[in-house]
Amino acid sequence: MSDKINTVILAAGKGTRLKIKTAKPLVECLGKPLVGYVVESLADFADSEKMDIDFGVVVGHQREDVQGYLSNQYKLPLLFAPQEEQLGTGHALKCFFDKHPDAWENKYTIIACADTPLITPEIYRDLYHALEEQQLDAVVGSFNLSNPKGYGRIVKKGNGLIITEEKDASPEVRAIKEVNSGVYFMKTSYIKKHINNLSNNNKSGEYYLTDLMREDAKVASVVFDNPDSFLGINDLVQLDRAREIMQSRINEKHLRDGVRIINSASVYIEPTVEIEAGTVIYPNCYLLGATKIASESILEPGCYIKNSTVFENVTVKANSYFEGASVGAKSQIGPMARLREGTQISDECKIGNFVETKKSELAKGVKVSHLSYVGDAEIGANTNIGCGFITCNYDGANKHKTIIGEDSFIGSDCQMIAPVEIGSQSYVGSGSTINKNVPDGAFAIARQRQVTKEDMAKRFLKSSKKS
Ligand code: UD1
Ligand code: MG
Repeated sequence: MSDKINTVILAAGKGTRLKIKTAKPLVECLGKPLVGYVVESLADFADSEKMDIDFGVVVGHQREDVQGYLSNQYKLPLLFAPQEEQLGTGHALKCFFDKHPDAWENKYTIIACADTPLITPEIYRDLYHALEEQQLDAVVGSFNLSNPKGYGRIVKKGNGLIITEEKDASPEVRAIKEVNSGVYFMKTSYIKKHINNLSNNNKSGEYYLTDLMREDAKVASVVFDNPDSFLGINDLVQLDRAREIMQSRINEKHLRDGVRIINSASVYIEPTVEIEAGTVIYPNCYLLGATKIASESILEPGCYIKNSTVFENVTVKANSYFEGASVGAKSQIGPMARLREGTQISDECKIGNFVETKKSELAKGVKVSHLSYVGDAEIGANTNIGCGFITCNYDGANKHKTIIGEDSFIGSDCQMIAPVEIGSQSYVGSGSTINKNVPDGAFAIARQRQVTKEDMAKRFLKSSKKS
């Protein structure tokens, strides 16, 4: 017998009430599948207690998807067990041990559901400590609800307790307010002793896991005073409620860490996002994926920033959209700028309104202030790009590069027909369509010469009398 823990995550159910195609364990909440939260919380608990853990997952509906996600996402000892038919939570637990008999050797078993993403590592810790300190064989997490409808009720009996499902309960039992959370911490030897005694002699005809709790056993409930943490996701209303609770946990942590979030309820921040102290985030911002925001930056209202890095002292003006971009310190972006995949903006740059960038490197101090498209480009330090600039990077079949050197000036309304290179300290006149390289220090202009005919305007102005 080792002090190792089995976790058995019950993830075989269909999630019919969600009414969507995705398997319930893979339904996302703040960008992460529900089962991911359960796995991470258990892993954090095991780390904090320095315990070894095997991650058992009972899979059924869309099992390839669930297994595929977990195996790709987590470098953990995952032990999958199929449950061909969903004959109940007790049957699901049995399926795990039938598939992995070595797991009987692990001292403890935690049982959790894939659809309860809000359970914190502290809850597992409290259950564990209760089990050890009171020398029990099994504990169940519970909480009190003024309206306990739908949950199994904790019925204290003998030295232990039993759990009675709503369907099977008498009116007196239904009146009990203490309910089963669905999370259990048990000695594995205790499960081994009783699992084959479970029967399906109840209103649902299912093998109930809850029947492991007995009046003649050393079992107890640990009552928690935060029912929100045990919210189970059965429909999209509960999913949105979970998102709300999770979002307020995340945002509160950032606020405590010195990130100023104005109207926090309107700001969407995924758990993977890192933000340093001193940054200010205005309402309706969305920060997603592997995004990092360094200190003292300002995100004005309505910015959407996904998988991007923003360094210190950056101002992102309202309604800007970043995806796979990086922005150097002291730069100013937006309003309404779109930085696409592969954009690398160095320090002290200025990207103005209605500018789109893609797969481009802009060196320190570059300015692209208005209405431009910069794609597949390299722009050297301190170069200034005028209004209405376009890199014509696509010839209908392939993408080509535009390279512009340092300290150059590109006038407004220029197009660069790539592939093309403009040197350093060069100057391109406004309205030029450039399709040949321009060397360092050169002046290039590529537009029709202007013709002016005095007094001729009246021929074209509708309001003028023709003579
Ligand atoms: C269960 C508890 C109930 C508790 C409630 C808390 C039982 C009998 N009842 O009820 O006391 O108050 O959780 O939310 O356990 N699953 C399988 N295989 C199966 C059946 C279920 O893997 O054959 C999985 C589901 O995917 C789900 C979890 O087990 O993740 C719980 O099953 P569910 O049917 O939702 O149980 P509840 O009726 O909510
Ligand atoms: Mg349920």
